[in-house]
Amino acid sequence: MRRATLPAGVRRGPAVTVNVDGTPRQAHLGETVAAALMADGGPAVRVTRGGEPRGIYCGMGVCFECLVVVDGVPNTRACMTWIRDGMDIRHMDGLAAAGLTKENDHDA
Ligand code: FES
Repeated sequence: MRRATLPAGVRRGPAVTVNVDGTPRQAHLGETVAAALMADGGPAVRVTRGGEPRGIYCGMGVCFECLVVVDGVPNTRACMTWIRDGMDIRHMDGLAAAGLTKENDHDA
């Protein structure tokens, strides 16, 4: 975990457990999924259909670069989604999360 040291008087929210790609990880209430994933050490949250890694870019819901699968819902913006205890977070791999293969992806 790579979390910033907080200044005196500032506290994190309660620790909770989320699953990141099936692995239990600690996060804190009050964090976004994006913050929790960055603290977990992985800047890339998804891979495009063309195989390019993407990560947190704007951090405010505009660029849609931070898409992940949350509790089975694909294309969820990590930077706009608050952590919940027990949340299931999966990185998107571009094709499989959308139910596509190279054979039926007409935009590839
Ligand atoms: S980082 Fe830009 S929408 Fe999430």
